[in-house]
Amino acid sequence: MGKIQLLDGLFYDSQQKGKEYLLNLDVDRLVAPCYEAVGVKAKKERYGGWESTQIAGHSVGHWLSASATMYQATGDIKLKKKLEYALSELEKIQSIELDGYLSGFPRDCFDQVFTGEFEVSNFSLGGSWVPWYSIHKIYAGLIDVCQIIGSEKALQVVIRLSDWAYNGLKDLTENQFQEMLRCEHGGMNEVFADLYLITNDKRYLELAERFYHKAVLAPLANKQDDLEGRHANTQIPKVIGAAKLYNITGNDKYKQIATFFWEQVVSYRTYAIGGNSIREHFGPENSEELGILTTETCNTYNMLKLTEFLFDWQPSSYYFDYYERALYNHILASQDPDSGMKTYFVSTEPGHFKVYHSHDNSFWCCTGTGMENPARYNRRIFEMREDTLYVHLFLSAKASFHDDRIMIKQQTDFPFQQSSSLKLEKVTDDITEIRIRKPIWLKDDSQVSVNGKHQKVEEEDGYFTIKREWQNGDEISFDLSMELFRYLAKDDDKKQVIMYGPLVLAGALGRENFPNTDILDDHQSLNNHPLIEVPTLVTEEDLSNWITLKDEKELIFETKAIGQPGNQKVTLKPFFNVHHERYTIYWNIMSETTYQQVGDEEKKKRAREQNVIIDEVTPNEQQPEVDHHLKVINSFSGYRNDVHSGWRDARDGGYFSYELAVNPEQPMYLVVTYNKNDASLELDGLKMERDFTIRVDDHFIAREHFNQPDIGELYTKSYSIPTQFVEGKEKVTVTFSAGQ
Ligand code: AHR
Ligand code: ZN
Repeated sequence: MGKIQLLDGLFYDSQQKGKEYLLNLDVDRLVAPCYEAVGVKAKKERYGGWESTQIAGHSVGHWLSASATMYQATGDIKLKKKLEYALSELEKIQSIELDGYLSGFPRDCFDQVFTGEFEVSNFSLGGSWVPWYSIHKIYAGLIDVCQIIGSEKALQVVIRLSDWAYNGLKDLTENQFQEMLRCEHGGMNEVFADLYLITNDKRYLELAERFYHKAVLAPLANKQDDLEGRHANTQIPKVIGAAKLYNITGNDKYKQIATFFWEQVVSYRTYAIGGNSIREHFGPENSEELGILTTETCNTYNMLKLTEFLFDWQPSSYYFDYYERALYNHILASQDPDSGMKTYFVSTEPGHFKVYHSHDNSFWCCTGTGMENPARYNRRIFEMREDTLYVHLFLSAKASFHDDRIMIKQQTDFPFQQSSSLKLEKVTDDITEIRIRKPIWLKDDSQVSVNGKHQKVEEEDGYFTIKREWQNGDEISFDLSMELFRYLAKDDDKKQVIMYGPLVLAGALGRENFPNTDILDDHQSLNNHPLIEVPTLVTEEDLSNWITLKDEKELIFETKAIGQPGNQKVTLKPFFNVHHERYTIYWNIMSETTYQQVGDEEKKKRAREQNVIIDEVTPNEQQPEVDHHLKVINSFSGYRNDVHSGWRDARDGGYFSYELAVNPEQPMYLVVTYNKNDASLELDGLKMERDFTIRVDDHFIAREHFNQPDIGELYTKSYSIPTQFVEGKEKVTVTFSAGQ
């Protein structure tokens, strides 16, 4: 990667924007929580948002990774200086605690874990929010700095931090370790594998392998898909770690985990833009449920990492077809070109819009991976494998290999130009073969020419393959002709996306009733902003009969007046270029007859739903629960595949509560989804009944007593909330308590 540089174009501009944000961030503010974690007053105030919560410190880790990679990609010395300062601060902070601890939150959660007796749930460990997840970013950041800029200081800091972990964890039994791994822990297996590769110290390999989370990885190793209901971004890094461990140990189990997982996610759980997850979780196979909280951006950052391993094991254009789709339609699309801010979820809800983080007061997980993404555009445009030069991606860039004895340059304005050329500025006989990806979407059998002469080319593993004795100055040109085609959703073929080559063309729907700002501190705050009505496209004709290219330079298309109701024409744009306006990725496209039958009904239903739901929370789903300030005592949660739903309960005098928004201006109801099966719960062989009370703030709403066993089936019940309970309030706390 060090030798690849972007040239002018879409990705170059986006990378420059991303760099600005890295340069603008204040290292003193990023490291402030690390000072405070060891009881020392920081030089400056910490940032807001998640940097002011228990997950604090994850951002400095991401920033280290991002800045090191960006320095490598652009050579900007200002980044190197900032990195050096950050490292000296982190080294100073680490020296305060004698055993090497360094993170953005107090160590007591780990101290509790190291005793072997600790509290754990999916997102909480030792009383703290995903502590390994957060500290993992610091490990990864230090390792990146060490590997990319060769910093001995970073290496020493991460070694001390790893020894702290090794010593703390070494006495945990296997059971205790597995219990601990129930809580999200990022890519801890990957960083210890990396550190082993750097230091050759076997203790780190041992630790990497101990971070093998059996409950999730063992089924994958046996090709069992038990992903439904699992928190997506918790699992992907574990699988990346497994992939790295395969490279180190050669143990097939690890490879099986990675290949099976990738296939299950990409083929059966990925949306048109290349992202996955709804409300951060995997749905059932072949579902493509639309919503506001879909396709968390971190997940795609991680899936791209994983894809690289798969290609390395079995070179095939298949992997880079996915990579390219996700890169354009999710990663590139996730950064606001004006402000440089990034998305968390990318909504697939028709008529919604992108929501970006604020500069100083968000620091969501995807702000962190979003800092890293632009520097990573350089990855894998080209690659040398033995004597073969691969061109995977069609971006303007130059690269040099073998100590600058080989220098190449790709020039293209793709996707605004439908061809590209590769010039071998300097070449040696180290290259015998050049492979250019033949993308899955290619319209015509590509014309490939060398020095202006058309070539008949072989195809291998999905790559145009050209073998010859290469000379300095040789130039290969190739077509990248695109056409319109439909992507059909996995769960409903009326739900369609219009594609042009690798690009998702989204409906650009304007700014009707648009919020004042889409750059937010709190990513949830606009979830209930009213939607607009998105036209249904009523036609049975081929796309080319009703879509016309209006602006070749910007790839803007327009449909005939087939948008209903109202015979509307709609504008289509590459999704990566849709910002600060409403959009739809998925359309309902149907015949006139079907539209008459279902179209109106569906629209009305949506409108009804949109206007009545003021707030909602899904149990057992991490971000929804955290954002609704979940509080619990003796409460458990899980996921039931039979009813495709998360659940939460409370036992033995326990309770759970959520804060929910209310609108005192209208009659309010609490609508609860229950499972009929609730009534026949068995615990330790004892038949239990459900007996619980619901309160809104301190006011009693209802007492429920379920004891009619039935099959698993969901149903809803609503409770009217008296006006005086919500008067003058924006939020209330809804509590479910076992017993009275
Ligand atoms: O829990 C930490 C991160 O925050 C998760 O990986 C992400 O899904 C979440 O929102
Ligand atoms: Zn995220």
